[in-house]
Amino acid sequence: MVPLVGLSLLLVAASSMPVEEKGQKFTGPSEPSSTGAYEQIDVQIHEKQGIRFLDTRGGLVSTELSRIVNTTLSDKEARVLFAPTRKEQQQCPGCTKHGINGDLLIVYDVNRPSSWGDLQISHGYFVHYFAPTDLVRMPKNVVFIIDQSGSMHGRKIEQTRQALLKILGDIAEEDHFALITFDDRVQPWKKQLVKATANNLEAAQSFVRKIRDRGATDINAAVLEGVRMLNVFAETKKPNGSVSILILLTDGDPTSGVTNLDTIQANVREAIGRRYTLYCLGFGFDVNYEFLEKMALQNGGVARRIYPDSDADVQLQGFYEEVATPLLLDIQMSYTGVSNVTQTSFGHYYNGSEIIVAGRISDNDLETLTAAVKAHSKSNQVEYEEVSARTGDAIDSYIFNKYIQRLWAYLTVQQLLEKE
Ligand SMILES: *[C@@H]1O[C@H](CO)[C@@H](O)[C@H](O)[C@H]1NC(C)=O
Ligand SMILES: *[C@@H]1O[C@H](CO)[C@@H](O)[C@H](O)[C@H]1NC(C)=O
Ligand SMILES: *[C@@H]1O[C@H](CO)[C@@H](O)[C@H](O)[C@H]1NC(C)=O
Ligand SMILES: *[C@@H]1O[C@H](CO)[C@@H](O)[C@H](O)[C@H]1NC(C)=O
Repeated sequence: MVPLVGLSLLLVAASSMPVEEKGQKFTGPSEPSSTGAYEQIDVQIHEKQGIRFLDTRGGLVSTELSRIVNTTLSDKEARVLFAPTRKEQQQCPGCTKHGINGDLLIVYDVNRPSSWGDLQISHGYFVHYFAPTDLVRMPKNVVFIIDQSGSMHGRKIEQTRQALLKILGDIAEEDHFALITFDDRVQPWKKQLVKATANNLEAAQSFVRKIRDRGATDINAAVLEGVRMLNVFAETKKPNGSVSILILLTDGDPTSGVTNLDTIQANVREAIGRRYTLYCLGFGFDVNYEFLEKMALQNGGVARRIYPDSDADVQLQGFYEEVATPLLLDIQMSYTGVSNVTQTSFGHYYNGSEIIVAGRISDNDLETLTAAVKAHSKSNQVEYEEVSARTGDAIDSYIFNKYIQRLWAYLTVQQLLEKE
């Protein structure tokens, strides 16, 4: 399942992904169209393997305008057209005279003949989509680190409580979890991680209902406390075959304790020491998002911005769902006869996500391309091999002939930027 296109519609449409990745075609804001709309999103998707499902999400779809999203779906083609008229863009709830602002997220997956992945070759480049689903879920140990400083006042803290209550309702019993709230003080719910039993989850939910905003923001102390708890847990429980993660939610810059951003990053990086993964959620626009993003990337995770819209609680839950089901750890991919390959080692693989590796075929005489994958699953080491014949460049008839090369270029640039 790939969230492929995140689009914002205002007078500018922004896309966070390449607009012609795989078989997609995107038309941004344009002249008034035949439907009389001024700004529109028109996404056309062609997938040779066939589209298994397609779903639209995001702020735009959760408003009254959702009825305007026109999705047509056939076996191999889909089109999502969002073309509200100028009047509709000004009169919907939450719209201003400048129009509407929000995300339209299109999530779809293709039919996957082999349940593990798909290897494609075209014009001297290859791409490997790796997305197994038939694996046993790995237990996870998760620490939620929640900013309750004064700036979270009002709706943000309310939405955070709502999201946490739902997330706590979804944690699997084999998981362990901890909750830390912080302002200028760090207040863990319990001193250590606890098992996600019904009783513990209920007690945690009562704690969450009582979270109130106050004080300044001490990110450094809060994250270090989370790491300390995971360390204690690892030493006492020896939780082999499980995944340990920290999820930090904050809406502001550090204002208490250590406030130098470089120092915080160095402290967190050293404390985590590559053993755990840190995800950072930045709530709203007062947060130094670059700081959060860098800190997450340094610790194997990613950052997300949570838009302070009506559906912020849904965005928070949506993020949690992405990391809710770990299936593999320490994934290493290798290929023969290729060069200029994008990233080939990954910390984890979550159900519903996809690992994509692309590269150039360097061996001109190569007849078959072999992909080998090694990883740890819940109980053992798994190995997997995929072979694709080169002859015929089977998918040359694809709608964008050189799309694999473009995808390779996109991934390469994206990964170089992350390294920066
Ligand atoms: C949706 O779009 C299709 C073309 O893509 C068009 O034929 C159909 O009439 C549209 N439906 C609505 C309700 O606008
Ligand atoms: C992973 O997701 C697929 C598709 O949604 C589902 O069928 C499968 O049961 C999930 N696997 C686990 C271990 O949750
Ligand atoms: C985890 O692995 C370590 C060493 O690899 C071993 O000593 C320990 O008994 C294992 N713990 C469990 C709970 O399996
Ligand atoms: C592939 O890598 C080689 C060696 O690192 C480099 O010289 C070459 O420019 C790269 N090719 C492309 C297309 O980036």
